[in-house]
Amino acid sequence: MNIAFELSGEHATLPRAEAIACLESLNVNFREVAFMDQLLLVDVPEFPPIANRLAMTHHILDVLFVCQANIKSILRLVSTADLGIKGRTFCIRVKNIKSAGLSSTALEKEVGAIIHKKGYRVDLDNPDVIFRLVLTGNKCVFGRLIESVDRGQYEFRRPHQRPFFHPGVLLPRVARALVNISSLSDGILIDPFCGTGGILIEAALIDAQCVGMDVQQKMVLGTNLNLKYYGVDGMLIVGDACETPLKSEKVDAVVTDLPYGRSALIQARSLENLYHDSLREMYRVLKKNKKAVIVSQVPLDKLADEAGFVVIERHQQRVHRSLTRHIIVLQKKSEV
Ligand SMILES: C[S@@+](CC[C@H](N)C(=O)[O-])C[C@H]1O[C@@H](n2cnc3c(N)ncnc32)[C@H](O)[C@@H]1O
Repeated sequence: MNIAFELSGEHATLPRAEAIACLESLNVNFREVAFMDQLLLVDVPEFPPIANRLAMTHHILDVLFVCQANIKSILRLVSTADLGIKGRTFCIRVKNIKSAGLSSTALEKEVGAIIHKKGYRVDLDNPDVIFRLVLTGNKCVFGRLIESVDRGQYEFRRPHQRPFFHPGVLLPRVARALVNISSLSDGILIDPFCGTGGILIEAALIDAQCVGMDVQQKMVLGTNLNLKYYGVDGMLIVGDACETPLKSEKVDAVVTDLPYGRSALIQARSLENLYHDSLREMYRVLKKNKKAVIVSQVPLDKLADEAGFVVIERHQQRVHRSLTRHIIVLQKKSEV
């Protein structure tokens, strides 16, 4: 079956990377069919529930057809498609991502009228089946809605909503996407620079066993408060990320946001030393073939390479004029 992920437009590359890594972590045997603006198409033999993990997807569709984004093709294919909704009510939703010249309201009406003519009943308030018609560039994807992501839950976990707050934290949707990009399925995730625990909260909510470290005791106490507030927990350690008290090859994922500015120099001699030594530790504690997802303000390729990692993805996130986050996805290859 062909599945479409309607991706969020909040970032150019993270939403696709998150959806793909999630499929990998759930051991879904998939093939990427196409990636268009805010839309990822994959071919899968079967599809497990996935929306409760994702942060940067809006909806997931069982695709009925893909065609050119022109009214003639769309109406022709809707009238011939096997909709498979016998005896059930339906409604149509149109999302126009970037397709000039087609009106969403007119399309909703015309497509709805064709399906109605086929003998199906419209119910706009409480339909049994929702069909979504997504227009992106010159393409139209038409499908049955299977799942939607509850994006509102991330608002409830915004940094200011938590009992312990400190500036400079990642937003929950970004933190969740990074946890997903680590491809963790089950097992242990470590954030060696846990700060207020934003990454750990998102990881714990998808059942990871979390280990958090911070050199400042107040951060560890605050993380503990934050985890408890959302009904989750983790093993928390006050300590230096350059000397993790864990045995080698014990963790299944590292996801972390490196310190910068003053908070970086609490224990380290220099920023370069801190990054160098902590990356070496991340490499040591990570199991073979597993991933580390690291956020920093500077490119880390050289240090990651020196630690033994292979770079498998790079993303950038512009926060404001003088802050761009570099997000690097690293793997500890087994043959090294
Ligand atoms: C950018 S913040 C992490 C923010 C975190 N992602 C959050 O959501 O709150 C970096 C943290 O690293 C901690 N830190 C600095 N040097 C450290 C070291 N050597 N070992 C462990 N933690 C350290 C700081 O105390 C700070 O809390």
